[in-house]
Amino acid sequence: MGNPDLPTPEPIVSKLIEAARVPLNHGYSVSRGVAKLREAIAARYARKWNVRLDPESEVIVTIGAKEGLAHLVMSILEPGELAVVPQPAYPIHTYSVIIAGGKLLGVSAAEPAGLLDRLEGAFSKERPKLAILSFPNNPTGACVDLNFFEELVALARRFGVFVVHDLAYADIVFDGYRAPSILEVEGAKEIAVELFSLSKSYNMAGWRVAACVGNPAAIAALTRIKSYLDYGVFQPIQLAAVVALDDCGDAAREIAEVYRARRNILVDSLASMGWRAEKPRGGMFVWAPIPERFRASGSLEFSRLLLTHAKVAVSPGIGFGEAGDGYVRFALVEDEQRIRQAARGVKAFLSGAGGGG
Ligand SMILES: Cc1ncc(COP(=O)(O)O)c(C=O)c1O
Repeated sequence: MGNPDLPTPEPIVSKLIEAARVPLNHGYSVSRGVAKLREAIAARYARKWNVRLDPESEVIVTIGAKEGLAHLVMSILEPGELAVVPQPAYPIHTYSVIIAGGKLLGVSAAEPAGLLDRLEGAFSKERPKLAILSFPNNPTGACVDLNFFEELVALARRFGVFVVHDLAYADIVFDGYRAPSILEVEGAKEIAVELFSLSKSYNMAGWRVAACVGNPAAIAALTRIKSYLDYGVFQPIQLAAVVALDDCGDAAREIAEVYRARRNILVDSLASMGWRAEKPRGGMFVWAPIPERFRASGSLEFSRLLLTHAKVAVSPGIGFGEAGDGYVRFALVEDEQRIRQAARGVKAFLSGAGGGG
């Protein structure tokens, strides 16, 4: 799993403890998030992406990006309506559509450049209501630049498609790459929302705090459905999240650096045994094509072999849809020594099984 192994930065934990001692914080919170946190999220978007957000109408706090995305799709997709989700995909991108009773239209996401053409084909032919995308991508590690979003927003406006962009890996970027926000595009707010999460940027996966920002009508719809369903994130967690956003900017950079070093060790070790995988510019995964001679038996069987013989757990690509079946996904959630140890196990297995590659 993409479950960060490192601790949440100390100032965030301290704020949680301090806030948990205040009885006023023990009651129901507000479903859409306390004003301070919505303001801190808007301030982060202004600083990092030069995007202006109204904390009242264009920001809602969610119980992680996953919850926000699932309920958002439920609130805007009518049963039977079409949603485009590039495949392979992070499971809730696909299943939010199915849970909402919508119809899934998969397009191949082999690479971002061709993806725009395929999206245009799907938009013009099928006239879907919704498209759900995510860059840096889980599982593929694909990253895009701002011009991708410019073209996507133009297409979405032309064909009347609403776009949900999941930016869960906003800060987990390497080698000088900067992950753009779709909201940087002029006019994007008219047709798009974005999910921004603290899970990966601050090692806060278990805390369950994120935000959905952008189009006010969609934010209002999500606010409404959530007001029926939940009372928001435990207030001390929201207050600690403000500390993360306001005071811990460097922590996100340091966390990304840890993943970058792990990525290099893993990809270089695989390359040394003839197993080629790309170094992603963002995210916390390595998406590796299954070596040729194991490909026919599929990703589940290959993952089982790796687990049994190399003692290495990977995610079979098929867990992200049929389109992922030629791949396995390594999560960079072990330290450098353990990654080296894992690579040795893989090497011994591959050579024992009859040579590399
Ligand atoms: C693309 C993507 N979106 C969302 C999430 C979950 O984020 P959160 O913890 O904010 O629900 C993940 C976690 O792996 C992810 O990869």
